[in-house]
Amino acid sequence: MGETVRFGVSLDLDLLDQFDALIRRMGYDNRSEAVRDLIRDKLVQEEWETPAGDTFGVVFLLYDHEAMSLDSRLTDLEHRFLKNVVSSLHVHLDERNCLEVVVLRGTGKQVRSMGEKLVSVRGVKYGKLSMGLAGR
Ligand code: NI
Repeated sequence: MGETVRFGVSLDLDLLDQFDALIRRMGYDNRSEAVRDLIRDKLVQEEWETPAGDTFGVVFLLYDHEAMSLDSRLTDLEHRFLKNVVSSLHVHLDERNCLEVVVLRGTGKQVRSMGEKLVSVRGVKYGKLSMGLAGR
């Protein structure tokens, strides 16, 4: 961590009101902390695009196991990207719904590509990819 500096920002009042409402919902006590996190988030996002960055990803997939061959399509994908799949967990949520959690690791590009392929498999009701840099 370097020296802390203060800086002023000019902003449309409506935009600031929306920002304040957003960060209150997110649980921030003050703008500085929220702005710091936004900046860090953006910097990490930028670094993901660097192929050499050691990146991990967590993918959540919610789907109906009775949907045509979805299980096997997801498993096929995981086998195809074997070197990027660290682990996966399958939970039978109820009689129909399944939750699959897949942990990925690789370059930013590899993790993003694999994660987006999983999330976009047809029949997945809800899917989300979260990424971060390993060792940070
Ligand atoms: Ni299941």
